Amino acid sequence: MILSIESSCDDSAIAITEIDTKKILYHKKISQEAEHCVYGGVVPELASRLHAVALPEILAETKPYFSQLKAIAVTNQPGLGVTLLEGIAMAKTLAVLLNIPLLPIHHLKGHIYSLFIEKDSLLPLLVLLISGGHTQVIRVESFERMEILATSMDDSIGESFDKCAKMMGLGYPGGPLVEALAKEGDEDRFDLPVPLRNSPLIAFSLSGLKNAVRLKVEACGGKENMSHQDRADLCASFQKAVKLHLLQKSKKIFEKEDIKDFAIVGGASANQYIRDAYQGLCAKFGKTLHVAPLEYCSDNAAMIGRYALDAYAKELFIDPDIIDIVSTKKQCSGMLL
Ligand code: KG4
Ligand code: ZN
Repeated sequence: MILSIESSCDDSAIAITEIDTKKILYHKKISQEAEHCVYGGVVPELASRLHAVALPEILAETKPYFSQLKAIAVTNQPGLGVTLLEGIAMAKTLAVLLNIPLLPIHHLKGHIYSLFIEKDSLLPLLVLLISGGHTQVIRVESFERMEILATSMDDSIGESFDKCAKMMGLGYPGGPLVEALAKEGDEDRFDLPVPLRNSPLIAFSLSGLKNAVRLKVEACGGKENMSHQDRADLCASFQKAVKLHLLQKSKKIFEKEDIKDFAIVGGASANQYIRDAYQGLCAKFGKTLHVAPLEYCSDNAAMIGRYALDAYAKELFIDPDIIDIVSTKKQCSGMLL
């Protein structure tokens, strides 16, 4: 069995995965949404302190598995430095005390492998990764070769949902709140710009759209003076602009890439409106759409454990003395993940 730890942002999670069967024998996640909600976003120092309490609490439940563990896996990039360190400290200690190898795991590769939890992997694959930290299209040729085809030049999709929700006074995390409210709204009421609509760039950008939402909130007299219907209409109009942006750029990629399997992963992939839109685009291009089970779209340790199974088979171990967080470099299209 492999014990995997995830603490890259505001979720503390641990999973136990059986190596031979790929089965998840244990998975628990403690989210910090309620604590960060008052600030309208994640406060790194607070997140770090909450991990220091939650991770040992979860770990205590996994003690019965300790004698059967063959490796410890931990997210070491990308993420918030102070929260990654909490998971790494625990993983290092366990690896040394139990005298078993340590596997460093890339969080985004974990999101991709959320598609393969308790299953064999399906590669090659084109992946749209939409989370709180990233918006990327990745060509996943193999375990070793994952190439970024497009990335956001500024905010990520999840972040833009969170910020727009904050501007309207909806709470945190904004994604599910905006999606739910949008169902009651008129998506054609507010005229919002579709980002990079006339640009040949195959890239994403959300900051201009976010600013356009801010101006609409002001035009409604500020968040305090918006009616329920104003909010619902603005959520729906914003979500429509995000959808059109994603589809326009994805279409350009679909025209070039003939890989038949396409997947959406990451926290924002839970959005049914976006899933439905991609179902239509995939049908047009003869591609099959794949998504992870809802419980594994947002951050979790099961996806880290699933990626760790393949990393373990390839013996991609790291010395506990040298494991550290890997600082995120600027990611551009053409780069390998
Ligand atoms: O993958 P994730 O849990 O964390 C990162 O790796 O960043 O993604 C969290 C993000 C948050 O920004 C959240 O608002 C967004 O995913 N999200 C959604 C939905 N559910 C979660 N965004 C849009 N629609 C949703 N239904
Ligand atoms: Zn994530």
